[in-house]
Amino acid sequence: MPASFEATLDWAGARDATDPLRAFRDEFMIPPHEGRDGRLSDSVYFCGNSLGLQPRAVREAVNAELDYWGELGVEGHFKGRLPWMDYHEFVRDDLAAIVGAQPTEVVTMNTLGVNLHLMMVSFYRPTAERPAILIEAGTFPTDRYAVESQIRFHGFDPATALIELPSDEPNGTTSLAAIERALAEHGSRIALVLLPGVQYRTGQAFDLEAITALGHKHGCTVGFDLAHAVGNLPLQLHDSGADFAIWCSYKYLNSGPGAVGGAFVHERHAQAVLPRFAGWWGHDKTTRFQMGPEFHPTPGADGWQLSNPPILALAPLRVSLEIFRRAGMARLREKSLALTGYLEWLVNTQLADVLEVVTPAEAERRGAQLSIRVTGGRERGRELFAYLMDHGIIGDWREPDVIRISPAPLYNRFADCLVFAEAVSKWSRGG
Ligand SMILES: Cc1ncc(COP(=O)(O)O)c(C=O)c1O
Repeated sequence: MPASFEATLDWAGARDATDPLRAFRDEFMIPPHEGRDGRLSDSVYFCGNSLGLQPRAVREAVNAELDYWGELGVEGHFKGRLPWMDYHEFVRDDLAAIVGAQPTEVVTMNTLGVNLHLMMVSFYRPTAERPAILIEAGTFPTDRYAVESQIRFHGFDPATALIELPSDEPNGTTSLAAIERALAEHGSRIALVLLPGVQYRTGQAFDLEAITALGHKHGCTVGFDLAHAVGNLPLQLHDSGADFAIWCSYKYLNSGPGAVGGAFVHERHAQAVLPRFAGWWGHDKTTRFQMGPEFHPTPGADGWQLSNPPILALAPLRVSLEIFRRAGMARLREKSLALTGYLEWLVNTQLADVLEVVTPAEAERRGAQLSIRVTGGRERGRELFAYLMDHGIIGDWREPDVIRISPAPLYNRFADCLVFAEAVSKWSRGG
């Protein structure tokens, strides 16, 4: 594939013109950038790994629910095009398709951090012999804080019950062999393995099926934080055998700041009597409104719900998932591979003296994101980052020294990657 790339606007423009997904860009609001001359143009937005862009149809969808509320009041739970009573079910099938799960294995609720805790209530059951949780050393702070607090909550000491797997590869990535070694060494003490689908700082994608098989071989439960994987990589959660997974919807799922998160619970736990924190919305739907004192969970992931869902927050997710349904994860991944491959090729062939890609080069070990280090150290990195932002090229910075650039196949173009490369080149020549 790289042989066919060219670092010219003609090439990038022609590639964009024949992109079968090109029309989707028009369905998104591209934030404007004001140039030095005061003129507005589309920014080059590479930050879908942090906050995805707003689908244009969101406003109407949210307004429709506001209208129903105004016109129907409480009756909106039962009337309207999509009655609120069952609203979370309207997003279920599309979500299940995106994460490769059965519809009853997924639920939209809360936020990622809350869902992580709720899942650990059920799936982290430490004993004196098996008290530990395995995470990766560079894990996202929420995951670290959450597991540490759960360990303490159960009366154990993180000093001995939190096992942090150090990266074993240059650039801070982690091999499957390292996970295997950690499990061989500590497996009999590990209650839960919690790893990311895509690592937030390096952009490394993990092999969920292989990790699950390893964890289960050692008698551990296995869960995944899919914040950076959902809507980015095609996932096969059911087939992976993972016990649970959690994610947020504001990154590649484009559902808005603080959007409702999601959770996956494998089918084999659907009927299991597991400890859990309960609320009325998790109660069996068929008898929920009998308002009985005893909690009988709805079988499947729905049984972990606590509260009736936030309709105004679910409306954007519904719109966004409908876009994913039309685009299809397979086609999105195909474009993503080419788009991120082009960005990588530009960096490696045009900017090798300035930038270094941290993210693994193998396609199966990454998603859309490239994590990029600037040669010359952190201060130069900060300088380039500020220059890019100033020129309307939006990525994000992760300490200590990484710029994350994530071409999103729904709205980014090959020409965007070229604009990025040309800006870096200009900066390196003194701006
Ligand atoms: C990998 C990862 N885990 C957890 C979180 C926290 O998510 P939330 O604030 O929605 O709980 C984030 C947020 O960006 C994240 O990137």
